[in-house]
Amino acid sequence: MYTQALNEKDPNAGKDKAEDPVLEARFQARVDEEMRIEPNDWMPAAYRRTLQRQIAQHAHSEVIGMQPEGNWLTRSPSLKRKAILLAKIQDEAGHGLYLYSAAETLGISREEMESQLLSGKARYSSIFNYPTLNWADMGAIGWLVDGAAIMNQIPLCRCSYGPYARAMVRVCKEESFHQRQGYDIMMQMAKGTPEQKAMAQDALNRTWWPSIMMFGPHDSDSSHSEQSMAWKIKRFSNDDLRQRFINATVPQAEYLGLTIPDPDLKFNEETGNWESGPIDWDEFKRVLAGNGPCNHQRLSTRQKAVAEGEWVRDAAAAHAAKVAARAANKEEAA
Ligand code: 3HC
Repeated sequence: MYTQALNEKDPNAGKDKAEDPVLEARFQARVDEEMRIEPNDWMPAAYRRTLQRQIAQHAHSEVIGMQPEGNWLTRSPSLKRKAILLAKIQDEAGHGLYLYSAAETLGISREEMESQLLSGKARYSSIFNYPTLNWADMGAIGWLVDGAAIMNQIPLCRCSYGPYARAMVRVCKEESFHQRQGYDIMMQMAKGTPEQKAMAQDALNRTWWPSIMMFGPHDSDSSHSEQSMAWKIKRFSNDDLRQRFINATVPQAEYLGLTIPDPDLKFNEETGNWESGPIDWDEFKRVLAGNGPCNHQRLSTRQKAVAEGEWVRDAAAAHAAKVAARAANKEEAA
């Protein structure tokens, strides 16, 4: 780990534990002045831990998030749709890589993060523990899940931690393409045959509430929000982003001629907000506790992929070592 090695040479290394009030005040002042915190800057241990947790959770979500869509790759309705879906899934893998790299700058290795995921101890977004039952789910995921992800992630481009903020710029550009491809599928299905429209409505019915839950618990129940906002990791609260997402999405559903599965959804003229009915937080807690419809399947598929890919990683490492040794021999001979 190059970055860890650099951190050890930092004259302030080790002071994390002491939480020197002068350093802490200087750190907070930099954050308040909208200056970026970089890997070798002093930072409170809790800031480092919060970022390691959040970025790792985010990276795991991108990686596990490939599975519900991978389920439909071989059954895409046309070659064009298959190529687009494949490109989207590859983008998600890339996002995972940028994010693991950003987390590594905080002194945690990718191996450690991966082993936390594989052991079932790490979180990833609750949304990825639901099944994808028909082709329209590919549309609903792009439209709603990537749509919610963009709403949450655009503010992260201004996060106080430099490597995370910079990684998010490209991620958001790609998520924006993903959202459009999802909406495009929904448009095709919604204006298709009655059966196709019914598939689109079914996908919306199943994806809506899990998408709303993606933003996390209500602000009053969010354990990390207050501190994360003071550190400018988060720029908006969970409820604020959820409300913005609902406001943006309701007219899109109307345009599709589909119905949002919330009988209590109503427009408040005074606030200009679409107010949602109650969210089933028991369901959210069940999924977080590992008891969602696909938690077991998603984790075991990942464990299997890592185990079965071991020989590929070993072969790639052996090849890289051979190439490096050959280059070193050539240099010596010259
Ligand atoms: N799924 C699983 N766990 C969740 C969650 C969700 N949707 N929302 C909140 N939680 C967990 C938190 O991780 C925390 O648990 P912990 O203390 O054990 O770690 C607990 O619930 C309390 O929630 P908080 O609101 O206090 O937690 P945060 O301040 O971390 O806020 C968050 C939660 C808004 C999801 C925040 O972590 C965040 O902004 N993360 C970065 C974005 C992200 O993770 N996106 C994943 C979306 S999927 C994606 O991008 C793939 C795309 O291609 C579709």
